[in-house]
Amino acid sequence: MMIFAVRRSVTSLMWSNMKSAIARPEQGEKAIDLGCGTGSYTYWLNDIGLSVVVGVDISQNMLELARRKRVSNVTFLQADLVHLPFNDNMFDLAICNAVLEFTEDPVAALREGLRVVKPGGRLVVGCINKYGAWGKKYTKPWPRRSHEYLQPRSVFLV
Ligand SMILES: C[S@@+](CC[C@H](N)C(=O)[O-])C[C@H]1O[C@@H](n2cnc3c(N)ncnc32)[C@H](O)[C@@H]1O
Repeated sequence: MMIFAVRRSVTSLMWSNMKSAIARPEQGEKAIDLGCGTGSYTYWLNDIGLSVVVGVDISQNMLELARRKRVSNVTFLQADLVHLPFNDNMFDLAICNAVLEFTEDPVAALREGLRVVKPGGRLVVGCINKYGAWGKKYTKPWPRRSHEYLQPRSVFLV
C-alpha cells in the first residue's frame, strides 16, 4: 500500500499530472469511481481513453448532476459502496476520492473496493485534509468522521 499526502493548492496542471502519476490509468483499462459525486474523476478517466468507466454513488441527486454534465460512454449507477453490484476482480483501477469520510463503515467500503479490483490493480484513496479548505468547509455537520482526517488512525487496515 502506498500513501500520498497531496496539497490541493497546487495548480490544476500540477494536480492533473499528480493524479495520473498516482493512479497510472492506461488506455483500454476498466475503472470504477467509487462515490463519484458529480463525476469529476469519472469523466477524467473517460477522457483519457479507458475502455470502461463506471461511476457509483449512493446519492441519486449527485448521479443526476453527473449525468447532466454531458453525453458520454460513462455508466453511472446508484449503489452503496459496501454492496457493489459487480463480480470480483472486474476493474484495473478504482478511485475513491473524498468519500470514506462520509461513509458509515469505511473499512467495509475499502474491502468492497478491493474485492472488485483485479489482483495487481490499483485502488487509489483520497482523503480530505482536515486543515485544508475542504476540511474546514466540511467540519460541521458532515462528515461524520471529520475528526479523523489524516490522523494516524485514518489509515485503515483491510
Ligand atoms: C465529497 S463527495 C466526493 C465526490 C467525488 N469523489 C469527488 O472527488 O469529486 C462524497 C460522495 O460520496 C458519496 N457517498 C457517501 N457515502 C456513500 C456510500 N456509502 N456509497 C456510495 N457513495 C457514497 C456521496 O453521495 C458523495 O457524492
